[in-house]
Amino acid sequence: MPLPTTIDGFHRAFALVQPEGLVGYINGGASEGLTVGRNTDAWQGISVRPRMLATAGAVDTSVTLLGQPEAHPIMIAPMGFQELLHPGGGRLVAQAAAATQTLYCHSTFASAGFAELESVDGLHWWFQLYAFADWGFTLALVDRAIAAGAGAIVLTVDLATLGLRQRDVDSGFTLRGKQVVPCLAEAGAPDPRLAPMWASLHHDLTWDSLAEIVAHSTVPVVVKGLLRGDDALLAVEHGASGIIVSNHGGRQLDTALPTAYALPEIVEAVNGTASVMVDSGIRSGLDVVKAIALGADAAFIGRPVQWGLGLAGAEGVQRVMSLLLDDFTRSLVLVGARSVSRLDRSIVAMPSHAAFRN
Ligand SMILES: Cc1cc2nc3c(=O)[nH]c(=O)nc-3n(C[C@H](O)[C@H](O)[C@H](O)COP(=O)(O)O)c2cc1C
Repeated sequence: MPLPTTIDGFHRAFALVQPEGLVGYINGGASEGLTVGRNTDAWQGISVRPRMLATAGAVDTSVTLLGQPEAHPIMIAPMGFQELLHPGGGRLVAQAAAATQTLYCHSTFASAGFAELESVDGLHWWFQLYAFADWGFTLALVDRAIAAGAGAIVLTVDLATLGLRQRDVDSGFTLRGKQVVPCLAEAGAPDPRLAPMWASLHHDLTWDSLAEIVAHSTVPVVVKGLLRGDDALLAVEHGASGIIVSNHGGRQLDTALPTAYALPEIVEAVNGTASVMVDSGIRSGLDVVKAIALGADAAFIGRPVQWGLGLAGAEGVQRVMSLLLDDFTRSLVLVGARSVSRLDRSIVAMPSHAAFRN
């Protein structure tokens, strides 16, 4: 079967070939799934004000993230359990990331362990941390990730409890609780099977928990899951080097603010004191151009990577990344900014309903 030629084509083909319960788990959101749709609508609803005759010559997609040079600003978001989508899925995503010079964020619940990541040549990766009630083990996990080469620790903070995944309730889909979680096994968890580890997640994190992780870590710490400027300021005050504006792809709290609308407030609050990244609903290179014009340093892609993996393994993920990167390069040229640094706020026009009051 030839691979789809659009991201939406991957979306539709994925839903045709995978079991309904799994499709619901990957694509579904919290409660009624309103934020899932609003995320993508929000990016698409931003208009572009292209400049003409502004730049010439070669396109430069390179960026610097947390002090490190990267080939481009489109990154793979952390997502667990890739094995459900393709045998060896955890390793295949990492390989596809390396092949497309994409920075990869590896989930605590990913299907590949640290040792497998270490064997992927040329891979740039960060480790997404879910904290555990056993704080000593949490810090051991941080140490193991850094020893394996993680360039940053990404602490996810929007899982104070699991959101209501209504599609999973209706379909009866559950993750296989007996499977071993490789990163947790390698970090020395006494019982690294999913069910007991999931039950021992730390659900009472505070800003002091962040400060403790920052104090312990020898690499930069990024906070994932913020939607408010005041929270972003607190994150910086407690030592975060970066912030990921995210509503977890609409999977946690329904009607949470679309990230395209949360981003400007956070960029303004942080005011250059930390890197700002964004995810949730980003489905094209043009969406990434809009995110950077609004002040983001980079953008993460979630579900489209899963669609690629589920359809065609590493080749599918590479194709998804290539489609996004081609669109990003083309969009840079068309908006009149042939390097990422030339994107600015004047390139985008927000719809009037994006201005919210509280
Ligand atoms: C199947 C799936 C698993 C996920 N697992 C994690 C995870 O383990 N850790 C985490 O911080 N976020 C996780 N996320 C959220 C993603 O990192 C990201 O925030 C979100 O998918 C971005 O939105 P998008 O899918 O609309 O691009 C997961 C998302 C999906 C769809």
